[in-house]
Amino acid sequence: MRKEDGLEVSLRAIPQVEVQRYSAGMQALHWVMALLMFTVLPLAWAMVEMPRSLPGRDTYFTLHKSVGITILVLAAVRLILRAMRPVPPEPPGMPRWMAIAAVASHWLLYAVLFAMPISGYVLTAAGPGSTSYFGLFDLPHLPQSRDLSGVGRSVHLTLQWAVYALIALHVLAAAYHVVVRRDGLLERELPPQRLT
Ligand code: HEM
Ligand code: HEM
Repeated sequence: MRKEDGLEVSLRAIPQVEVQRYSAGMQALHWVMALLMFTVLPLAWAMVEMPRSLPGRDTYFTLHKSVGITILVLAAVRLILRAMRPVPPEPPGMPRWMAIAAVASHWLLYAVLFAMPISGYVLTAAGPGSTSYFGLFDLPHLPQSRDLSGVGRSVHLTLQWAVYALIALHVLAAAYHVVVRRDGLLERELPPQRLT
């Protein structure tokens, strides 16, 4: 070891708290799904503002629906993986109310990750026209029903506010853990970092 490696020595002297992480597959799914959520929402905001006559409007709708269905499939995969392996225990020293709030908000996030695509699917599949998945194949139709499509639309449009609130809470909570508590919570969703 070189003389100037004093930094390395002192870093090694710091007792390392073992971070309990989600598996690499779970981590990858988390970040891909987060990216897709940050894609599906701006697509929705843009597409609903477009005049019907605008060329390319349909492409925005197809992309919104296809990304939304992808989120549904990935959410199901993540839940299956989650059931197969124990979830890492919460960081030490977390107050009980915070641990309960974290678990509750995660299950609410899962709920909207299912309810949003399913209501979006019902809204379109029970209505006229077909829904293509990235132009590869058409999603199956439901029996045509204005009422069913209307229920899907109401659920979809109302639940969007829960999505915004939950994502805002989730990201703020993650920032609070990083900046204020510094308890390694974000590391649970990241691969191990090398200090040297
Ligand atoms: C996680 C998945 C999804 C999220 C977060 C999401 C979010 C949204 C939001 C926020 C809007 C309303 C935009 C606005 O009015 O400002 C919207 C509209 C819409 N979404 Fe989704 N969506 C998702 C999945 C889907 C899927 C899978 C489909 C269909 C297969 C779909 C079909 C639609 C349609 C047709 C509209 C326009 C509704 C209207 O104004 O009549 N969405 N979506
Ligand atoms: C910048 C954005 C984001 C950050 C920094 C972030 C950070 C985190 C962290 C640190 C955890 C682990 C929490 C713990 O173990 O107690 C987590 C879990 C989770 N995140 Fe995110 N997240 C982000 C975006 C999102 C988005 C957009 C969604 C979906 C709407 C999402 C859904 C989830 C879910 C469902 C869990 C629970 C995982 C489980 O236990 O199965 N996250 N996130």
